Amino acid sequence: MRITIGVTGGVAAYKAAELVRLLQQDGFTVEVVMTRGAREFITPLTFAALSGQKVITDLFEKSFSGGANVESAIEHIAVAQRSDLLLVAPATADILAKFARGMADDFLTTLYLATTAPVIVAPAMNVNMWNHPATQENIEMLRARGVKIVNPDEGYLACGMTGAGRLAGQQEIVAAVRQTLHTQKDFEGETMLITAGPTCEDLDPVRYLTNRSSGKMGYAVAEAAARRGAKVSLVSGPVNLETPSGVERFAVRTAEEMRHAVVDRLPESTIAIFAAAVADYRPAETQTKKMKRNREPLTIRFEPTPDILAEAAQTKGERLIVGFAAETELVVENARKKLAAKNADLIVANDVTAEGAGFDHDTNIVTLFSRDGRDLALPKLSKSAVAQRILDEVLRLRGVLRHKTESHRSAV
Ligand code: C5P
Repeated sequence: MRITIGVTGGVAAYKAAELVRLLQQDGFTVEVVMTRGAREFITPLTFAALSGQKVITDLFEKSFSGGANVESAIEHIAVAQRSDLLLVAPATADILAKFARGMADDFLTTLYLATTAPVIVAPAMNVNMWNHPATQENIEMLRARGVKIVNPDEGYLACGMTGAGRLAGQQEIVAAVRQTLHTQKDFEGETMLITAGPTCEDLDPVRYLTNRSSGKMGYAVAEAAARRGAKVSLVSGPVNLETPSGVERFAVRTAEEMRHAVVDRLPESTIAIFAAAVADYRPAETQTKKMKRNREPLTIRFEPTPDILAEAAQTKGERLIVGFAAETELVVENARKKLAAKNADLIVANDVTAEGAGFDHDTNIVTLFSRDGRDLALPKLSKSAVAQRILDEVLRLRGVLRHKTESHRSAV
């Protein structure tokens, strides 16, 4: 998961360096954006060295980087899209006022307006500035808009005064990040089975049929679920991705192998998410020797593969089943049909032809179709943010379905 830290101009700016390290230790990728004021207190080089990422300082100037210089006036949009969270620490009275009013005169203020990710601010300033009605009104305005505020601590301030205004403790700020990114353990006690990636169907010992699935979406769901406390088994076709930490991976190649791995692990799972792009057909026969080239046209007979999801959903009991629908047309109609035809509880549908969606992208644009009739269209988000929203919907649905079952039982 990626966090963008906005550092603004206060004495506490140096404390953001420690925050970068703590968040990295938690497994987050951290990118730093500095305001002009922040650079009066600490140099971009410190953050570039710590984060291993280029540090963005200006909207129009060349970005400061440990390596290459990148120049882009629209980079705030790219950063806004790839961030799973924007954390501003320390946040000055000035940045709070700008955020509250929607001003966009530098990189950080522009990023704030452009991002759809959650925003956390950790203010730090002189006690009178903090207590001033203007600042307090700005804080209330931001809070009402969904911004999470990590209130400053009381104590001795750099200006020589004592009172509220000192940047909150780093552990408290990291806890706010974890809580906002659902790294609290709300999937504790759940055993999740996830399929991901493509399958490969062999024609002969050297040739096979596959598809463009990268596995990124399924792996993002596995990572998010493990972070949220689920015991995760990931049945994966061949992909070029690392196994997320805390996830047990079972490597398979063909649809048949995937089916076996799923059948083995299904009984113990409470939630099953089928994100794999399983081949729909496989060669009716696999040649044991490499097929020889000749001048004649070649006809190969294909047979359908088992529909792993549909099979699993036949005997699901209380298990929650999530399917994916990669469509190139009529997304809504096809997704609703698929939900019913496959006896799934949730279908994650996307138009794979849309810009920024589908195979091999880091972003996705999906609509979640739930069994209780809710359609939730999400904007373009990083795949890890989409994963979190899928898991949120799974939890919501689990609550709704349990409630229905209980009221049904009490009515009988
Ligand atoms: O029918 P369609 O292939 O569009 O359905 C997609 C959903 O079904 C995905 O969740 C995919 O993982 C699952 N599926 C499966 N086995 C198949 C084909 C699709 O589990 N053979």
